[in-house]
Amino acid sequence: MLTYDVLIIGSGGAGLYAALKSRMEEDLQVAVLTKVYPTRSHTSAAQGGVNAALANKDKTDTWEQHWFDTVKGSDYLADQDAVEMMCREAPEVIRELEHWGCPFDRTKEGKIAQRPFGGASKPRACYAADKIGHVMLHTLYEQGLRHGVNYFNEWFTLSLLHDGQRCLGVNALDIRTGKLHTIQAKAVILATGGYGRIYWKRTSNAYGNTGDGAAIAYRAGLPLKDMEFVQFHPTGLRRTGILMTEGARGEGGYLLNALGERFMSRYAPEKMELGPRDLVSRAIETEVREGRGGADGEVFLDLTHLGKERILNRLPQIRELCIGFEGVDPLEEPVPIKPTAHYSMGGIHTDINGLSPIEGIYAAGEAGCVSVHGANRLGGNSLLDILIFGRRAGNHALAYARNIDLPKMPKNALEADENRIKALMENDGKEKIADIRRDMGNLMANKAGIYRNATDLTKALEGLTILKQRYKNVQVADKQKIFNTDLVAVLELGNMLELAEIVTKGALERTECRGAHYREDFPERDDKNWLKHTIATKGTDGEPVLSFEDVTITKFQPETRVY
Ligand code: FUM
Repeated sequence: MLTYDVLIIGSGGAGLYAALKSRMEEDLQVAVLTKVYPTRSHTSAAQGGVNAALANKDKTDTWEQHWFDTVKGSDYLADQDAVEMMCREAPEVIRELEHWGCPFDRTKEGKIAQRPFGGASKPRACYAADKIGHVMLHTLYEQGLRHGVNYFNEWFTLSLLHDGQRCLGVNALDIRTGKLHTIQAKAVILATGGYGRIYWKRTSNAYGNTGDGAAIAYRAGLPLKDMEFVQFHPTGLRRTGILMTEGARGEGGYLLNALGERFMSRYAPEKMELGPRDLVSRAIETEVREGRGGADGEVFLDLTHLGKERILNRLPQIRELCIGFEGVDPLEEPVPIKPTAHYSMGGIHTDINGLSPIEGIYAAGEAGCVSVHGANRLGGNSLLDILIFGRRAGNHALAYARNIDLPKMPKNALEADENRIKALMENDGKEKIADIRRDMGNLMANKAGIYRNATDLTKALEGLTILKQRYKNVQVADKQKIFNTDLVAVLELGNMLELAEIVTKGALERTECRGAHYREDFPERDDKNWLKHTIATKGTDGEPVLSFEDVTITKFQPETRVY
């Protein structure tokens, strides 16, 4: 049986950082298991920047100001002790990354360059043109190779194994051979990213962001937290949802409606286009609903006034994406955009070290929920989160694994997954993966998206029940073992349907507006009843059971958010 001290599932920034940290004392065996090749992980799609109060552009910036901006941005749902730690440690992790060779852009004095981002009171997003995620991911992968981390590329995790007290390991499918394996591990860190693909077409997320880590944790009895909070990024390309970085507005880009008005003056007169994402996305949606959008429900990101040099130096990838996917050159004309599902604030419930309620099981990055983003994440805090909590989970798992023996694995550990895969492969149902996936995405985007209400959410839940029934008749068209991506797609779809239901149920239950969760039928924030985290666990009947936990407030009392 394959055996590791620490096994990390997922190879984005959080997973790779966790692996690196757990391998720092090189006698421990550490492996990363990932369904993609590591440098294709979704972290590579992050564009605009990573936040840290380095005060390189504005000397008055402080980590305390970053702390406040993050708590205010979260609509006061973030746990303030966790946010404090993240913002305080941010400059240190950025310097660590810099010393490992991460090629940040520089100021004239040779310091790390920083740009303004939404919801931030100071310019503190450290960047590398518009490719910060890509360069961070490559830096961490190189360092992992250097330090002897093992990689299982193109393996898909089927289930998480524990005995109710401590972690035992995982079952996984080797996609290349079709074989199933049990991997024994003292500690498992789930760093599989978010679940934005439940909105299938209307998302900036990679096709792989199907919430696998959260789904397997949930099925293993672990609690999920704040799943109803899904962030829509204001600027996704009209047809594909591909991200147009907030850095474009940080560099001075405008938002225009179809009448050519800079409409943000109506919604955030002070911060304008650099308001927080929840507010800007709703503003765009309102413009479109009130008839001031384009024919396809789009508005426009205008960069033309920035000039060729600035666009080519600071936003080169954005320009390529606009030309390639929309046929529009931002040097010449405004880019058609729509809000796009971008970030999962919810995830596996953990403490400040990324530890779940089961000993030895951790979650980090978008797969986890500490919570530092609350109801609405600030741009640039996701890359910071993966560094801070990847590092913390890795350090904690290392200390844990050092002091404990290998777990005893039951003989039949693989049996349930073997039966599940056999049943899927032999299913001669007529439902097609693509049809269910499309219907799920449309249902979520139309009934559980930016604006929500009880009628739509109830319809969404009914629709999801039907989709789950249809899923029972889903067909794996490819009957071979080798590289069966059809089988992987079916497994991913099962994960997404499970999570979509939890998102919707939480959204229906939460009768208030907070951050990214906007209820038209309950248009106020309700701190008296709803200043609390939602916890979802799998009930004995298989349906999600919701409970609630207090938010940690240490310094900033909730106030009305004005930008
Ligand atoms: O707009 C962006 O570049 C995205 C950054 C983020 O989600 O933090």
